[in-house]
Amino acid sequence: MTSVALLRQITDYANRADPYPLYAELRKTPVVQDETGVYLVSTYWEIRHLLHDPRVSSDVRNLSPEAAGAVGQAEDPNLPPSFLRLDPPEHDRLRRLAMRPFGPPHTPRRVYEMRGELGEIVSGLIDGFRDRGQIDLVDDFSYPFPVTVICRLLGVPREDESRFHGWADTIAGGLDPGHGTEEEREAKQQEVRQARADLAVYLAGLIDERRRSPRDDMLSALATGHGPDGQMSPVDMVITSTLLLIAGHETTVNLITNGMLTLLRNPDVLQRLREDPDLVVPMVEELLRFEPPVQFIPHRTPLSDIEVAGTIIPKGAPLFLMLASGSRDPQRFLDADRFIPDRTDNQHLGFGSGLHNCFGAPLARLEAQIALTELTRRLDNLRLVEDPPPYRQNAVLRGPRHLAVAFDGLKQ
Ligand code: HEM
Repeated sequence: MTSVALLRQITDYANRADPYPLYAELRKTPVVQDETGVYLVSTYWEIRHLLHDPRVSSDVRNLSPEAAGAVGQAEDPNLPPSFLRLDPPEHDRLRRLAMRPFGPPHTPRRVYEMRGELGEIVSGLIDGFRDRGQIDLVDDFSYPFPVTVICRLLGVPREDESRFHGWADTIAGGLDPGHGTEEEREAKQQEVRQARADLAVYLAGLIDERRRSPRDDMLSALATGHGPDGQMSPVDMVITSTLLLIAGHETTVNLITNGMLTLLRNPDVLQRLREDPDLVVPMVEELLRFEPPVQFIPHRTPLSDIEVAGTIIPKGAPLFLMLASGSRDPQRFLDADRFIPDRTDNQHLGFGSGLHNCFGAPLARLEAQIALTELTRRLDNLRLVEDPPPYRQNAVLRGPRHLAVAFDGLKQ
């Protein structure tokens, strides 16, 4: 196998169930240039350094034009980027504004105070399985749970879910590196731009409503809040709420589903978790290392030529940071390919690192901890129906599309 064709193999659906041997192959050369021109960085320390390197940009407008075409990550001419894809100082200002109603220093207890509500949503979903011996964990639990949570947090009516589900899926699909011909990639980008525009119109309407009659939710806080950074522009409000809605839809679902799949493949750990629910805290960290929902970051580019592990990555070149590979790097983690639920030295890359580190991490952690504890506690004799399960197409936001599980009954 030549290393230059590895990205094609990683994005090939046939390898979705187990991409880890490909990452091991990739790590033999910490930086490789793929046949499409993309630079892939796969080892832990190199990825970590790049995540903290101010010479590395998240803004696709800094990609050279050829590079933007090659990876299908061209700028959207209609809408500006979210802070996920901006550099300082604009990134920092917008992130601070979004953080005001969500976390420290302004609202430090926001996520913690949702604990009771999260527990109620989980109990309600599990109670609904009473007369069933088999469920699809994705459609019946892992998807509706975080979606309900992010909708409540933002103040988006849950009943509108059927309207924005399709848009959210299409936008998340846009993260997947381009397949096929240039025309096919352009057609896909066009679909993504349309979905972003439709969702933007929908959210702009809601934000307008909240500006006129605010409630206790994040859309109202963004629409009416003032602070040292002033206020977000109306367009930035729409872009930021789009980012939060998509991030709340398309990531935690995979952490919960990958988590349950891993537990069901390791029944001894499942039993340990039943006996010692506190195990869930380090276990969720280990899941973020071992089966991370975000496998790689496909949108970075150097602002000047930089040297990484002896290779010069030129200014404007497309740079992919292979987080899932870094988190399995045996140079960093002992027994890196083993799932060790109480691993202590575990600075994984599951939430990224540096100035773009995951904004929603405290919420995602709490959601996964509550979900996995309650599912294992309440579903009797839980077992997998199909292994491996069918996966989603997306190679970046990787997880099962369905996970059929059977059980014998429900505990209270
Ligand atoms: C298990 C679930 C999640 C995982 C694995 C995850 C992973 C990540 C990763 C790897 C990044 C870094 C991206 C980069 O460096 O370019 C990130 C950023 C981000 N995440 Fe999450 N995320 C999760 C859940 C959430 C949730 C629930 C929210 C919203 C409440 C959220 C909001 C964000 C935002 C806004 C950013 C951009 C931060 C910035 O650019 O400063 N994430 N996430």
